Amino acid sequence: MDESIERAARAIIDSRVTLALTGAGISVESGIPDFRSKGGLWDRFDPEEYATIWAFRQDPEKVWRMLKEMEGTVDRARPNAAHTGLAELERMGLLQAVITQNVDNLHQEGGSQDVIEYHGNSRSLVCLWCHKQYDYKERKGQYPPRCECGKILKPNVVFFGEGIPVEAMTRSSQLASECDALLIIGTSAVVSPFNILPRVAKQGGAKIVEINLERTILTDHITDIFLQGKASERVSEVVSAVKQLKEAST
Ligand code: OAD
Repeated sequence: MDESIERAARAIIDSRVTLALTGAGISVESGIPDFRSKGGLWDRFDPEEYATIWAFRQDPEKVWRMLKEMEGTVDRARPNAAHTGLAELERMGLLQAVITQNVDNLHQEGGSQDVIEYHGNSRSLVCLWCHKQYDYKERKGQYPPRCECGKILKPNVVFFGEGIPVEAMTRSSQLASECDALLIIGTSAVVSPFNILPRVAKQGGAKIVEINLERTILTDHITDIFLQGKASERVSEVVSAVKQLKEAST
C-alpha cells in the first residue's frame, strides 16, 4: 500500500468527524469541465460578463446562452468513482458530510446523503422578482425559462455578488471547526468564503488530505497529505485502503 494513501486512510479511520470539501475537479471525469484549468469554462466565458448577479440582472438572455450549454453537459454527466467512493465512506460511517461548491447534483446521484451545497443547485430555478421557485424540469427546453409573472428565471446557484445560502454557510463553518479529518478534492480553493473552511479546520487541529491533479494555494501551507492525481483514482485508493486497514484490525 502506498505510504501517503495509508496515512490518509488512517486519518479517516482515527477521526471522529470527517468531512469532504469538493470542487469542479471531482466532476471533470464525469465529463464536466472545471472553471480555471486550460479550456475550462472561464477560458471561454468571462465570469465578469456571465457569472455576476449584475450581469444576470442586466442581460439574462446572454447569461442563459452559457447556462444552456452547461445544462446540456450536466444532464449527460454521471457520477464517477470519486463521487461513489465518498458515498461509500459515508455508508461505512466514516464521512459525516460532503460540502461542495458544485451545482451538478452528482454527489447525490452517487449516493451521498448529507450534501451541503455551498453554491446552490442548478436543478431549481428562482424568479428574482416574485421569488417563485420551480424544478428545472418544469421549464426544461425553454431558453430562457420564464416565470409565470413573465420574468426570466435564474438557476438557484450562487452568482458572484450573491450571498452563500445561510444554512449551508452556518453548518459548513460549524462542521469545519469540529472535524478531525478533512478531504479536499478537486478545488483550486481560490473562491471565498468557501476557501476559508480548510483554514478553519486546520486551526481546529484537523488532518488535511488534499487530492488534486496539481498543487494549489493550500498545498504548501494547509495540506498535511497531498495525493496528486485524478480524483477517481486517488479516492478509490483511499477507500480500498480504509477497508483493508479496517479488516486487518478485526
Ligand atoms: P476550479 O476550476 O477553480 O479548480 C478545479 C481544480 O480541480 C483545479 O485545481 C484542478 O487542478 C483540479 N482538477 C481538475 N481535474 C481534476 C481531476 N480529474 N482530479 C482531481 N483534480 C482535478 O474549480 P473550483 O475550485 O470548484 O463558483 O471553483 C470554485 C468556484 O469558482 C466554483 O464553484 C464557481 C467558480 O467560479 C461560482 O461560480 C460562484
